Amino acid sequence: MQRSSSILAVMVVSFVVLLAGGAGAAAAAVAQPVPLFVFGDGTLDVGNNNNLPGDEDVGDPPRANHPYYGIDFPGGKATGRFSNGYTMADFIAKYMGYEMSPPAYLSLSGPVNMDGFTGVNYASADAGIRNSTNAGLTIPLSKQISYFATTRSQMESKLGRLAMSDLLSRSLFLLAVGTMDLLPDCNYFLTFPPSPPDNKTEVQRLVEFYNASVTSLYGMGARRFAVVNVGLVGCGPTVDTRRGGGSGGGGGCDARMNGLAAEFNAALGALLAGLRSEKRRLRYSLADFYGFSNATFANPSAAGFVNIDSSCCPGPCMPFPYFNQPPCDNRAQYWFWDGGYTTEQAAMVAAAAFYNGTAKFTTPVNFKQLIRRKK
Ligand SMILES: *[C@@H]1O[C@H](CO)[C@@H](O)[C@H](O)[C@H]1NC(C)=O
Ligand SMILES: *[C@@H]1O[C@H](CO)[C@@H](O)[C@H](O)[C@H]1NC(C)=O
Ligand SMILES: *[C@@H]1O[C@H](CO)[C@@H](O)[C@H](O)[C@H]1NC(C)=O
Ligand SMILES: *[C@@H]1O[C@H](CO)[C@@H](O)[C@H](O)[C@H]1NC(C)=O
Ligand SMILES: *[C@@H]1O[C@H](CO)[C@@H](O)[C@H](O)[C@H]1NC(C)=O
Repeated sequence: MQRSSSILAVMVVSFVVLLAGGAGAAAAAVAQPVPLFVFGDGTLDVGNNNNLPGDEDVGDPPRANHPYYGIDFPGGKATGRFSNGYTMADFIAKYMGYEMSPPAYLSLSGPVNMDGFTGVNYASADAGIRNSTNAGLTIPLSKQISYFATTRSQMESKLGRLAMSDLLSRSLFLLAVGTMDLLPDCNYFLTFPPSPPDNKTEVQRLVEFYNASVTSLYGMGARRFAVVNVGLVGCGPTVDTRRGGGSGGGGGCDARMNGLAAEFNAALGALLAGLRSEKRRLRYSLADFYGFSNATFANPSAAGFVNIDSSCCPGPCMPFPYFNQPPCDNRAQYWFWDGGYTTEQAAMVAAAAFYNGTAKFTTPVNFKQLIRRKK
């Protein structure tokens, strides 16, 4: 208690000095990593879905709380991460200077503790931008953002409005969502050409919801957005299986689904560029997961991968069909861990490219530059 109030005092003092234009205080503030707030799907989930109740109408949420999830996590523990180890959220957090991702929102037992605060992770495996995507089984993006509003009011009551606003304006808001909205299995009504009532395409509607989400976060004080676009959705082992690839992986990709992902990504890029010019002090880094996956798939061995089309853990790690088969031994050489989410190794190489890579896979700056830049 004493420690937390003295840290609070330091923060308040440095904020006051910052207001007065003190460069020394600014340098001191940079030494601690800024908080990280995480939104999206299983690419980033670190256990929220474990805490979701089952829904008797639609069944149980997707949960990675059983072997062989976490087989390479410290202690071999299944934490709810859809990975054999760490996720992309963990690696971004590690590169920022943390041990791993901030905790899952639904695992917190009380109001946030500002003593040693690292941020909060709201991501939920299989969640979408739309409320209707995997409805009842996940925390959709809009709900994740309303959870952030709760966190924010807890922060405000501990820090006061000014210190909270300053902290949020420096924090990193990491988003990776959209894949699930583009999978026809999750959206039977998905229509590709413009359609009534508004004559828009599905992609246009999704990007409008994305706009509303980013705008809502901005309205609550978020200024630095690290956005990961959708990958090659048509190359996932589940897609392959549906197309007759057997126990995960048939080699090919669904070109139409990848085309839809490319269309979404192009619209997302235009949206972020537009928001940057519309909103004062909004900054972003758009990470090209699609391009990064595509480049890796074009030359897997250059990046140390031997398998980029089937899942390392096709049995117990995939919802259907249940095979009682252990995961592959060479997990660091597989891109896909389960039916759609990647291995720890794939998450690590992608996160490294996005955090501090060359300009090839991030626009207009990488995550590290986004965090470092002055207002
Ligand atoms: C989702 O539901 C929330 C709360 O009911 C609503 O405010 C929001 O507009 C909906 N968003 C989408 C994308 O459908
Ligand atoms: C949608 O397209 C139809 C047919 O072209 C047209 O009649 C209708 O007015 C359009 N609706 C809107 C909202 O633009
Ligand atoms: C985001 O949505 C708002 C409200 O509809 C709109 O005014 C704004 O132009 C949109 N921004 C972009 C970049 O699409
Ligand atoms: C994907 O990779 C191929 C080479 O395999 C390249 O020709 C193509 O331009 C790439 N597409 C994207 C969107 O990066
Ligand atoms: C980021 O990249 C620069 C230049 O390549 C390198 O010197 C630095 O060590 C990297 N930092 C991290 C945290 O990876």
